[in-house]
Amino acid sequence: YNTASPPAKAHFPKTSRQLPQAIIVGVRKCGTRALLEMLFLHPQIQKAAGEVHFFDRDDNYSKGLEWYRKKMPYSFKGQVTIEKSPSYFVTPEVPERIFAMNASVRLLVIVREPVTRAISDYAQLRSHASSTPSPPTSSFSSSSSSSSSSSSSPSMSPVSSNNVNSFQSPNSSTSTSLQQQQPQQQQQQRSFDELAIRSDGTINESYRPIAISIYHMHMYRWLEVFERRQILIVNGDQLIDDPVPQLKRIESFLRLESHIGRHNFYFNHTKGFYCMRSDSEEKCLKESKGRRHPRVSPMVVSKLRRFFSEHNRKFYDLVGEDLGWPE
Ligand code: A3P
Repeated sequence: YNTASPPAKAHFPKTSRQLPQAIIVGVRKCGTRALLEMLFLHPQIQKAAGEVHFFDRDDNYSKGLEWYRKKMPYSFKGQVTIEKSPSYFVTPEVPERIFAMNASVRLLVIVREPVTRAISDYAQLRSHASSTPSPPTSSFSSSSSSSSSSSSSPSMSPVSSNNVNSFQSPNSSTSTSLQQQQPQQQQQQRSFDELAIRSDGTINESYRPIAISIYHMHMYRWLEVFERRQILIVNGDQLIDDPVPQLKRIESFLRLESHIGRHNFYFNHTKGFYCMRSDSEEKCLKESKGRRHPRVSPMVVSKLRRFFSEHNRKFYDLVGEDLGWPE
């Protein structure tokens, strides 16, 4: 898709731009784009083009709600406006800012098995790094040391200077900065195995793809601000395997009539994913969605699965749902 183009359904008479009543707040690489595009199959849903990044970027947030509203698509009365910006999930200021806009907003958090998500994140960072010119120096230090990340890099979540994006688990004394990372280009010359596991054999929790996958460390902040019933946890692995049941759950969560069904999907064997079908067209997501993942050693995968099992349980407890991820 060309996500930058305005929505095809724009600006009929009796339409207006509305602040979103529902937001996909993350998680990055869990199928946020697929989810938004699939929901757009519903005639009662309008989606913002691109990612708006209003609540997580101070320079956008300071422009105010009118600026944000103008980024929204035209909609008819009764339609639901949705936007998605995956870095909202990990940015500490965002829950309160969204609450200040609309205390009864509905939030969608799409998650995926955390080790797969971390590898997908690595694959994206690596692919972006390889499409930008190399830095002049090739020397670099260990990934947990902290030269600051290049904020102009296209694949790092954008955060402005006073948005430190550090988070602290309610259950641990370790504060991890999502920004304090090596320049991404230097990191991405290294394998996932090297970046995820330190030379002493411990898990590199400060490596951003790992840190984002520790869902409970971010999720608790949302539950400090919003009622649990305002947040729907969407199973991103199931959205890949069989999208319709997840979409039905969302229709009911958004109090919409059931509309999206099997007729809206066909499996594209070349892509290896479901593609969408509406009255007017058939669409697959672009190539960067559904990338080939790099090889990761089975030992690293099982080490990470063990590491995540405790964190996953904390996440299940927090949200009151067991997602059944392998241990
Ligand atoms: P991979 O590229 O690792 O497979 P996001 O949009 O949040 O960046 O998520 C990208 C992920 O969406 C992809 O990760 C892919 O697995 C997943 N996805 C879910 N449904 C998809 C679909 N129908 N087509 C393509 N990718 C899909």
